[in-house]
Amino acid sequence: MEVDPFYRNLPKIELHAHINGSISTETIDELLAKNQQEGKQQLDITALQRWKAGLEKGESMTFDGCFDMFRLIHQLVDNCEAVAIVTRNVIREFAEDGVRYLELRSTPRDVPETGMTKRSYVESVLSAIHESKDAGLDIIVRFMIAIDRGRDLKTAQETVKLAKEFYASSGGVVVGLDLSGDPNKNDVRDYIPFLKEARESGLKLAIHTAEIPNVTESLALVQLPPDRIGHGTFLQPGDGGSQEIVNTVIKYKTPLELCLSSNIIGQTVTSFDNHHFKFWYDGGHPCVICTDDKGIFATSLSQEYQITASTFNLTRDQVWELSLKSIEAIFADDVMKDKLRNLWANEKSKLEFT
Ligand code: IMP
Ligand code: ZN
Repeated sequence: MEVDPFYRNLPKIELHAHINGSISTETIDELLAKNQQEGKQQLDITALQRWKAGLEKGESMTFDGCFDMFRLIHQLVDNCEAVAIVTRNVIREFAEDGVRYLELRSTPRDVPETGMTKRSYVESVLSAIHESKDAGLDIIVRFMIAIDRGRDLKTAQETVKLAKEFYASSGGVVVGLDLSGDPNKNDVRDYIPFLKEARESGLKLAIHTAEIPNVTESLALVQLPPDRIGHGTFLQPGDGGSQEIVNTVIKYKTPLELCLSSNIIGQTVTSFDNHHFKFWYDGGHPCVICTDDKGIFATSLSQEYQITASTFNLTRDQVWELSLKSIEAIFADDVMKDKLRNLWANEKSKLEFT
C-alpha cells in the first residue's frame, strides 16, 4: 500500500509491538545469510514465504496461521545474537517510520542448544535498546516482558520473577508485563495471580483481552483492571462480550491498543469498517493505533494510521489528535509525557494539514 507522507511524517507512539512478530523480511534474510556463513543447517522458511505471498495477493489467512509463523520465526531467532539483531533492526525500522516513542514486548525463551536462557534473552533485548540510544536514533524505547498463556504456569511464574528483577535493575527501561499467546490455550484466570504479583511490584499491565469471544475470561481481565487492553475485539454485548464488560472498561478508562490489520488478517474482524475502533473512538474512549506484528502482517504504523483515517473518514486534525492523545497511555511519568507533548508541538508546523 502506498502510504501518504503525512502519515509517515506524523510523530507516532507505538505501544503494541511484539519483537519477533515485527521482524522484517530484510532481517529474516540477514539471519539466514549469517547462518549460512556460519555453516549452520538452513531453516526451511517456505511456509513464511507462502504466507507473505498470500498476504500480497489478498488471500484469506487464519488466526492459527499467525501462530504457525511465530513458531517458525522462533526457530530462526534461537540465540542471543539473533535476538539482539532483530531488536536493533525493529527499533530502527520503527524510527524510520516516524515512531518517536516505542514500547516493545517479547516473551523470554530458553534454547539450551544455543545456551540462550530467559535471562540472557532479556539482556540481549536491553543491550540492543541501549545500542540504539547510543547510536542517536530519534526514538525512545521501553520494554515489556511477556507471559505466553500457551505455556505452563511454572513458566509464567519464572517470567514474572524475571520481570520483577529487571524492573528493579534496568534503570526504567523495563516498564511492564504483557500477557499474550494463543487465546484458545489454557484458562487465563489461572494466570491472574501472576499479573497481580507483577503489578504489586510496580510493573504496568498490558493484557491481550477478548481477542476471541469469551465473556468469563474477558470480564475477569477487565476487572483487574489492566493499565491497557490489547485488541479488545469481543468486549461488546452481542459480539462475544457483555454490557458489564463494556461498562467496566469505560469506568476504568482503560486505554485500548487497537491493531486493525492484525485483526483483519487473523479474521477476528470481518472488514475494516466493522472494526471496533469506531465504537470506542466515537464514545471518546482512549484508543491507541498499533501494529501488533508489523512483519507478520506486512504493515507499518503509518499504514495503520492511514487505514484508520480512510476507513472512518478522519480529518488530518483528528489523526493528529489521535496520535497526540496516545501519549496519555504510555507507561511513563508526567515528565516523559510533557517531553513528548513538547516534541509533538514542535513537529506540528512541519506537517501539511490540507
Ligand atoms: P515474541 O514474544 O517477541 O517472540 O513475539 C511473538 C509472540 O507474541 C507470539 O509467539 C505470541 O505469543 C505473541 N503474539 C504476537 N501476536 C499476538 C496476537 O495477536 N495475539 C496473541 N499473542 C500474540
Ligand atoms: Zn499482540
